[in-house]
Amino acid sequence: MGGAPEVLAGPLGGLTRVRAHGDPAAENLLVHGDNLEALARLRPRFDGAIRCAYLDPPYNTGRTFAEYADARAPAEWDAMMRPRLAALRPLLADDGAVFVEIDDTQLAPLTLLMDAVFGAHNRVSTITIVRSAPTGHKAINAGPVHVSDFLLVYAKDKKKWRYRPQVRVREGFDPAYSTWLEDPDAKPARWRFRPLRAAVAEALGHPTARAATRALGREAFVARVHAHALRKARHVVRFAQPRYEAIGQAARRVVDRSREAPERVFVLERDGRPPFIVRGGNRVLFLADKVREVGGAPAIVEPLTNVWDDVPFQGIAREGGVVFTRNKKPERLVARVLAMASDPGDWVVDPFLGSGTTAAVAHKMGRRWIGVESGEHLATLAEPRLRRVVDGVDPTGITAATGFSGGGGFVVAIP
Ligand SMILES: C[S@@+](CC[C@H](N)C(=O)[O-])C[C@H]1O[C@@H](n2cnc3c(N)ncnc32)[C@H](O)[C@@H]1O
Repeated sequence: MGGAPEVLAGPLGGLTRVRAHGDPAAENLLVHGDNLEALARLRPRFDGAIRCAYLDPPYNTGRTFAEYADARAPAEWDAMMRPRLAALRPLLADDGAVFVEIDDTQLAPLTLLMDAVFGAHNRVSTITIVRSAPTGHKAINAGPVHVSDFLLVYAKDKKKWRYRPQVRVREGFDPAYSTWLEDPDAKPARWRFRPLRAAVAEALGHPTARAATRALGREAFVARVHAHALRKARHVVRFAQPRYEAIGQAARRVVDRSREAPERVFVLERDGRPPFIVRGGNRVLFLADKVREVGGAPAIVEPLTNVWDDVPFQGIAREGGVVFTRNKKPERLVARVLAMASDPGDWVVDPFLGSGTTAAVAHKMGRRWIGVESGEHLATLAEPRLRRVVDGVDPTGITAATGFSGGGGFVVAIP
């Protein structure tokens, strides 16, 4: 470690090694310098090698932070970003994607820039991230209170992008799941349905739901119903009207027949997809298809949407053991990005590394990473943070969720 700089031999020939930490075989790179130059130096070694890029550039807030100035004329901001996005593109894998976080100051210009560099046809999503509540000083500005960031998602090639579908935990129970199926393993023709509340009351030793409510109190009984339903999710169903215009011919025929014989259950087997089950003209949907084990307990999950209001920004001040006021992003946010756009072992890059969040998260999730930061806080914030991660002494952020307990290493380099 330390000593006179040496030019990295072989594929990383463009970078100069300064020092390293942890496993000497580790390839992860913490690059101290301007990201335009650094991205250029990553070529040709990393051409087409990066599966996921997360960028959290200066938002052009008009402020001057302790660590960096964030006030540019709009054209100047554009002139800063454009060549950096262009320099990133050749590094992305064909099945890779780039995520850029921004607030509404630069949202429109950034979208145009991304369209120009990555192609509007490769635009995947504009995700709204709810990062604060409408309290405090922000509420006194004229107009609606700004509480969101945006995450612009572009694939290198939308046809080739490999998205890893994500889910989020639903808050509370879904009351539409209100029917109990006695015998899910029996032939559908023999299925018997009754109200969920009645079935749970009986399981709790009460003759009826009304009796259970009287004995336990309404709130406690409802909580027991929901807990029971989650544990026995194979028995719990809802009925949902199919969108007639959105289903195929065969499914329509089944729906029509089911309307004529509403007590019968009809099953249409489908190749590679769950069967289409209908009763009384309605689809039978199982709660079990929406339940996953989360933190050791069953929870109802829903597909991830383009509104993320479930990743708190409050309470992250101590994450990573670094103070980077207003700029640090939650580890859980970056973890979600990496989970949807990369697999273990893939390369991840963050050219605006800041306090090191993306590198810390990538490390804990078993990705290989490259982080670039031009500020002096690379040495005072990001590097010490990553040393703690490697040494297994950072219990914050996603550490417990990933089960990461240390290991690996990284090289600090300059372009
Ligand atoms: C919004 S912060 C990133 C915060 C980061 N996501 C985190 O969680 O800590 C933007 C960072 O980009 C850095 N930066 C700005 N221009 C840069 C450039 N040309 N090259 C490298 N880093 C740059 C700034 O110093 C700052 O640390």
